Amino acid sequence: MAVTPLINETQIQERLAELAQRIEADYAERPLTIVAVLTGSLVALADLIRRIHGPLRIALVQASSYRGATTSATTLVINETFAPDVAGRDVLLLDDILDTGRTLATLVEHLKDRGAASVRTMVLLRKIGRQVVPIEPDYHGFVIPDVFVVGYGLDYNDEYRHLPFVGVLEP
Ligand code: XMP
Repeated sequence: MAVTPLINETQIQERLAELAQRIEADYAERPLTIVAVLTGSLVALADLIRRIHGPLRIALVQASSYRGATTSATTLVINETFAPDVAGRDVLLLDDILDTGRTLATLVEHLKDRGAASVRTMVLLRKIGRQVVPIEPDYHGFVIPDVFVVGYGLDYNDEYRHLPFVGVLEP
């Protein structure tokens, strides 16, 4: 399958630098915990955190959707083996892409239930036309059309995550 570039490496790095500056200013030396959603946001996490100056911790969560056998409802199962206690902490939840919004909205509620002092959200990409849960990310990298994208952390069958750019997967 071919990957047609959509957002190049320079565009991503420049945008992350802008967002890192905004995050730094918004938190103004308040200790921040970035909770990154595995596996797609790992590349953005690595590039973002090296641009943020100030007290920072990182944590990882995994969220997998399962479709019920008898209903069409999907359940999000959260695995937080690598997430330290977020109680009382200011949390920035980082995901690769906002599609329907279910993942982000569910995780925000979960982190609040765990006692986070505040929860903001950041996504690298925001797909338009697919959102079903109303959630506005506090920070987003790029708005993209309703196409399937890979690269810079995003995968198809666990491949393509290592591409330094975001591209559209063409059959
Ligand atoms: P929701 O619907 O919960 O979905 O906002 C977010 C998750 O859906 C996956 N996703 C994609 N993954 N290319 C991908 O590699 C895409 O175009 C795409 N659209 C959605 C992704 O795992 C994300 O965390």
